[in-house]
Amino acid sequence: MAILVCGGAGYIGSHTVKELVNTYDVVVLDNLTTGFEQLIDSKATFVKGDLGDPAILDEIFTTHDIDAVFHFAANSLVGESVQNPLKYYRNNVSATLVLLEKMIEHGVKRFIFSSTAATYGIPDTDMITEKTTTNPINPYGRSKLMIEQILADLAHVHDFQYVVLRYFNAAGAHESGEIGESHDPESHLIPIVLQHLLGQRDKIAVFGTDYETADGTCVRDYIHVTDLARAHILSYEGMASGKITNKTYNLGNGAGYSVKEIIETCEQISGKKATIEYAERRAGDPAALVASSQKINEELGWKPAFDLNTIISNAWAWHSK
Ligand code: UFG
Repeated sequence: MAILVCGGAGYIGSHTVKELVNTYDVVVLDNLTTGFEQLIDSKATFVKGDLGDPAILDEIFTTHDIDAVFHFAANSLVGESVQNPLKYYRNNVSATLVLLEKMIEHGVKRFIFSSTAATYGIPDTDMITEKTTTNPINPYGRSKLMIEQILADLAHVHDFQYVVLRYFNAAGAHESGEIGESHDPESHLIPIVLQHLLGQRDKIAVFGTDYETADGTCVRDYIHVTDLARAHILSYEGMASGKITNKTYNLGNGAGYSVKEIIETCEQISGKKATIEYAERRAGDPAALVASSQKINEELGWKPAFDLNTIISNAWAWHSK
């Protein structure tokens, strides 16, 4: 039995592969448009290709005895999705439909889906639970919510089960220092701040200072990428053992940090001072997103092992290398 990881050369996918290969045979499918081959653990089998390509999926599902698919492959930038919605619906929705069709055709029945806090839109609560209304405010969040709804429809009629994992802000790097967060171009807050502190950027732009938050900058819930990886494996094992089926879980630390607080923590850990430019709000950004992860804690025993200082220290070690 093997696990197919779509998007295993990306940031969260590669960290999950690194945890999975300790126990499972792993096949990675990635088209390398945003991923990097060197992030894939050498114990995994790598297939370069697109998950919207039915022939490649036929080949994988007939060559390997795949028990489950972990689906990370997606575009995931809120701002870009507002500017280029068709890219998001094509890559995140249409291509995923091809993958799901091929899974059903080949009798592969377990699916772990990378979803997002962006499905909630502007929440009407300080602490988001899975029962909080989903009302995404950007195409990225909508593209993920569409797949969530499709999964429920499939599980209703097919021998097919799923776990949806709604990540809050994935951050940090593997403790080994071997892999970490790498996007080209980079748009995420923590890597941008660390690159600036390493002298690779002139300054940092803070997008919006008039949000209804304590210091006026956006608040997010940052969760260590290894904690996310472990939640995938627990979800898979929970489904395979019959403990859970067809679930949606939030994954966050339960604590919110503002953009200013993140910059300050990066300054403390690096021992360097940042140059900040206050800029306009970025399109599609809600003021605050903080998760309750109580449900996955109660049902699968998952809880985050890493706090913000460890997240930024691991990221600093990776970026410094
Ligand atoms: N920010 C800045 N300056 C920068 C970069 C970011 O001020 O140079 C701000 C953003 O405006 C936002 C916060 O820092 O308020 C975090 O921004 P990121 O781009 O790091 O992350 P997002 O919250 O936009 O999005 C991330 C993932 C999404 C996911 C979301 C869920 O990229 O895929 O978390 O919370 F949906």
